Amino acid sequence: MGLIAVPSPTQTSTPFQTTANPQLEIRGGRRLSGELEVSGAKNSALVLMAACLLTRDTIRLRNVPPLTDIAAMGEMLGSLGGRVVRHGDALELNGDAINNSTAPYELVNSLRASFFCIGPLLARMGMAKVPLPGGCQIGTRPVVEHVKGLKALGAQVTIEHGVVTAVVPGRGHRLTGGRIHMDCPSVGATETLMMAAALADGETVIDNAALEPEVVDLAGLLIAMGAKVRGAGTPTITIVGVDRLHGADYAVIPDRIEAGTFLLAAAITRSHLRVAPVIPEHLGAVLTKLEEAGCTLEHDGIGLTLKADHLNAVDLRTQPFPGFPTDLQAPFMSLLATAKGTSVITENIFENRLQHVAELQRMGAAIRMQGNTAFVEGVSRLSGAPVQGTDLRASAAMVLAGLAAEGITTVRGLEFLDRGYANLEGKLNAAGACIERVNAPGSSASIAA
Ligand code: EPZ
Repeated sequence: MGLIAVPSPTQTSTPFQTTANPQLEIRGGRRLSGELEVSGAKNSALVLMAACLLTRDTIRLRNVPPLTDIAAMGEMLGSLGGRVVRHGDALELNGDAINNSTAPYELVNSLRASFFCIGPLLARMGMAKVPLPGGCQIGTRPVVEHVKGLKALGAQVTIEHGVVTAVVPGRGHRLTGGRIHMDCPSVGATETLMMAAALADGETVIDNAALEPEVVDLAGLLIAMGAKVRGAGTPTITIVGVDRLHGADYAVIPDRIEAGTFLLAAAITRSHLRVAPVIPEHLGAVLTKLEEAGCTLEHDGIGLTLKADHLNAVDLRTQPFPGFPTDLQAPFMSLLATAKGTSVITENIFENRLQHVAELQRMGAAIRMQGNTAFVEGVSRLSGAPVQGTDLRASAAMVLAGLAAEGITTVRGLEFLDRGYANLEGKLNAAGACIERVNAPGSSASIAA
């Protein structure tokens, strides 16, 4: 069972040096130029990997980013009997030898997206035991919609001792198509239920489905595997179950959140920079807000070129797609901390996704909080300081703030950052940034293997 080996930035250093507590040291105030390359979408690739459980054939996924989350999902699939092998930027996944329907706690606990395996596992094996993913820094992350939907497809679902056990009763243990109305357009629940319904007996209709591009990407893979899926990207998705699905060769869409992060890196350093590839429709709300703030944007069919000079305040309210994405709220706040005027930023998706405010304040940002709303008064210059990333996107926000700040900013929390950005400092340095991955003082500089 070949597992994917994902080189992380720390593993590209000298073979005997283990960075016990790495941090990024950023020398701010430099303009960027040239181009930033966007990798494949993490939040699509993770779900597409889970779809390999639905078939005995091999699935080849191209444009898969080398991230720690991707390696963790590979480990999850390996623990179920799957085989995942990386060939450059492609993954070959084979679910033929799936022999276990119980997912290990430590893997689900470390990677929430692995909970989405419950749908395809149940459809394939007729039963699945998956630990509750639990909460994280940004919120409680419930899975009520996932469980409710599986029950609507005929599964008997119990939750005991933190483990969700789903069983399909009756002969053949096959799920039955049904109507599912979601109380909230959960991305993960929509994806989980699409995969479960793909092999169910009969038709499934998912109402109030999530509209995110990653949902549409999953539908693209399922259709390439022989599934009958209509309406992905609209609030109503219809899936007519089939008896079996076959292998496919499929390219993951570009990562719209990484692309947005790079556009914000250009804007916060007041640079002229190209970001590619970008699908503008995947970032509509973000591009509108960048232009409202005073950036000029030009799409050349593949990439987006951003120019930024004097920037002004804009108001943001995070919403499900196509509204402003919660994943870019923190990175955009870093930009607005340097724009002229006062911006009002409201986080409506997650109950605890404003922890980066305190870190930005350490850098001189003038931000006042009121519940889930931040009033950000732009300052002429942030000042470099030691800061901590508290989740994946907050860590990226701190890197962006460091690019613009006067002096040195050291960013800790790279265990979060490396989950969602492949070699961020390498890409930014190639465009003119000055970032170094070092050991935090007081940590053992190098441990002989
Ligand atoms: C996906 O998480 C993404 N992760 C998240 O990206 C992203 O922030 C989120 O969608 C929203 O866009 C992956 O795709 C792996 P949700 P997911 O279920 O599916 C509530 C990143 O930084 N909700 O759409 O877990 C929930 O509490 C990560 O890349 C319920 O109330 O998100 C939250 O407030 C972070 N009941 C909101 O919906 C439920 O049963 C969105 O959750 C399920 C969710």
